[in-house]
Amino acid sequence: MTNTLKILGICGSLRKSSYNRWALQAAQHLLPDAVRLDLFELDGIPLFNQDSEAQPLPIVIALKRAVREADAILFATPEYNYGVPGVLKNAIDCASRPYGDSAWAGKPVAVIGASVGLFGTVRAQLQLRQSFVFLNMLCVNQPEVMIGNAAKAFDGAGKLQDANSLKLLRTLLENLVRATRDQALAKDAHAGETA
Ligand code: FNR
Repeated sequence: MTNTLKILGICGSLRKSSYNRWALQAAQHLLPDAVRLDLFELDGIPLFNQDSEAQPLPIVIALKRAVREADAILFATPEYNYGVPGVLKNAIDCASRPYGDSAWAGKPVAVIGASVGLFGTVRAQLQLRQSFVFLNMLCVNQPEVMIGNAAKAFDGAGKLQDANSLKLLRTLLENLVRATRDQALAKDAHAGETA
């Protein structure tokens, strides 16, 4: 890890005025010192087909590279029909293959989500966390950032204005950064012991 910690933000919506992308943009303004948050857009990720997983398209190679180069991942997921949108699950599947070459393994990760409903993606977030088990990602679970009633939580220009969501988002970012730095220190210590 370099001095500047790099978080990769991935939005599970392709919608231009996505609340979830706006939530990631809000996060970019709440980062602790020496932390960057860059977004990877999922437009153009093909539907996963195991027949061609050994010959991934350049966009899938780019996604895997961006994930590998990041120190931590921040997903912003919408909720579609009580679950993770296919766009996001498909991208996760693409970057997890071929078997043994997953880009996600061991990455610290956190989830946020915004929806127009009252429960702010709680069900989609739970489903996403389930995938982290098999992906072997280190999930920072608290605080949960569920931005419900998104039409009110953001202003007309896409700025997150709900004070509680902003506070929770800031704390989640701090916790993700701390867990990522702790993991890097533990790895270094382990490497020192085994050298
Ligand atoms: C939705 N929406 C939705 N909201 C929710 O709280 N629970 C749900 O289960 C669903 N289901 C659902 C299915 C489909 C197919 C769509 C298109 C939408 C509404 C959803 O919260 C809203 O469209 C958000 O604006 C989606 O997030 P983005 O695109 O703004 O990031």
